[in-house]
Amino acid sequence: MKIQAINGFKDILPDSINRWRYIEQRARDIFERFGLQEIRVPILEKTELFVRSIGESTDVVEKEMYTFPDKGITMRPEATASIMRAFIEHGMHVQQPVQRLYTIGPMFRHERPQKGRLRQFHQLDAEIIGATEPLIDAELIAMGQMLLDELGLRTSLEINSLGCSVCRPPFKTQLVAFLEQHLSRLCNDCRRRTHTNPLRVLDCKQEACRAVVQSAPSLLDMLCNECDNHFQHVGQALQHIGLDFRINRFMVRGLDYYTRTTFEFLTADLGAQAAVGAGGRYDGLIEQLGGPPLSGIGFAMGLERLALLMEQQGAQNHAEHSMDVFLVALGDKTLNPSSRLAHALRKNGIKTAIDYAGRSLKAQLKQANRVNARYSLILGDDEWLRQEGILRNMRTQEQQPFTLTGTPEEWCSRLIDIIGPAPR
Ligand code: HAM
Repeated sequence: MKIQAINGFKDILPDSINRWRYIEQRARDIFERFGLQEIRVPILEKTELFVRSIGESTDVVEKEMYTFPDKGITMRPEATASIMRAFIEHGMHVQQPVQRLYTIGPMFRHERPQKGRLRQFHQLDAEIIGATEPLIDAELIAMGQMLLDELGLRTSLEINSLGCSVCRPPFKTQLVAFLEQHLSRLCNDCRRRTHTNPLRVLDCKQEACRAVVQSAPSLLDMLCNECDNHFQHVGQALQHIGLDFRINRFMVRGLDYYTRTTFEFLTADLGAQAAVGAGGRYDGLIEQLGGPPLSGIGFAMGLERLALLMEQQGAQNHAEHSMDVFLVALGDKTLNPSSRLAHALRKNGIKTAIDYAGRSLKAQLKQANRVNARYSLILGDDEWLRQEGILRNMRTQEQQPFTLTGTPEEWCSRLIDIIGPAPR
């Protein structure tokens, strides 16, 4: 019996790795342009961290966490909580009042696997901690949009405000009263949510629930002055930067730590998994985790969804896997010097492939094409006797003689003179 990977856990094969690396490189580049620094946090954390930050009655904490109950630890379902834990633990606010951080890595949620939804998935996560200005919200959202643009992706942006501890509780009371009048029309989940997490009813995907919430009270009409002002300013700032967006009063997000601005980057091209990235403000979170009263805002994008979308939308601007030189060593006499040449080339940064199995010229040239080699150098026994190999440009098919006098290290410099140095 073959052993297969666990359902929802996927290998990322060499075929798609260039796309992944391209996305990661663009993300690092853009995040660093905005002054974010990388942080790496552990995959395992105390379960309590996620319960206290994400919220006890969220789907993530209730049903989706990979927890080792006897050890009290959980595999991170997201990165924000861990980054805040690290921020507090290392007193990072003391060194710098505003911290801009990002991390890239795997997250774990026990969801039902589907296209674009996995149990181990990867996020690009960006956070700006210690600033409340609406211009920061706009800057962070614009950074996410810039990444999507540079990846060549077409998405839409929706924003909302979830208010704060002053304006949300009275809204919740009104919402529950409204939902209680319509319980019989709600799905089973939403009937339960009405009393555990009523805001979630607002973004239920069931037709019946969507019909009910159309006439539900809106938090946007009940925001306190500060939150209303903040939201207006975020919208204006986004307009100033030139970002298109839509206000979606039904967006609530699945994690409890959000306050004020929330946003999602959406696509209709990935079926049910519409969110390519999402985030928002979490002004009470750091204090709730035992830290100073600092606010923050961030987002995360799903790498699997970005990669899928690039494929789907034909955004193929990443480099294909390629080699600089394929050494076609054809006889016993040439194997050892060819291997020394390969070592010298690699030492000089040249991507070099070589086949020691003694396959035919035709088979090796086919392999050279398969690995996308720019050049192949043919070194057979005849060439060895003549001290002259054949250098073939694999793109143009042109061939030229290549002198084999001196040591393989000397051949190496001659070859680099012809094909050019390794691109850095
Ligand atoms: P989230 O909305 O739970 O937010 O996830 C953010 C993104 O991660 C989603 O938009 C999606 O692209 C991707 N994602 C989530 N779950 C899966 C899955 N099962 N399979 C594939 N991709 C998935 C957060 O995680 C917040 N921590 C974002 C944040 C950062 N808010 C503030 N700072």
